[in-house]
Amino acid sequence: MTKPLKPEWVAAGKAIYEMKCLPCHKLTNVRLVGPGWAGVSKRRQPLWIINMITNVDMMLAKDEEAQKLLELCLVRMPNLSISPEDARSILEFMRSNDGEP
Ligand code: HEC
Repeated sequence: MTKPLKPEWVAAGKAIYEMKCLPCHKLTNVRLVGPGWAGVSKRRQPLWIINMITNVDMMLAKDEEAQKLLELCLVRMPNLSISPEDARSILEFMRSNDGEP
């Protein structure tokens, strides 16, 4: 995690969001297919978010919080084959969306 945020990572994360996540996730707190991302970087630990992005099947099998979201959304988030570097950029974008400088 960087402080302040790295603009290049934020921009890379935004581009991935628009290509691969936007169909299911809004940047507000409105749920679409999955939960809206407003506040997500504050309500979840960074590692939890990274695991959700890179290894959603393991999370849905083992993590109670991820399972609660599945009960709420009734759709399984697909495995989108995101690399660790890209997951890091997406997390940076989420933090920027949550107003971190
Ligand atoms: C086909 C729809 C879909 C796509 C595309 C998708 N997700 Fe999801 N996502 C979900 C659903 C549904 C959940 C809730 C867990 C579940 O039901 O599997 C979720 C949950 C999450 C969560 C946890 C949110 C929270 O409030 O704790 C994160 C983080 C996340 N997704 C990241 C991503 C990222 C990053 C991408 C793009 C690379 C992405 N998702 C693409 C459907 C999707």
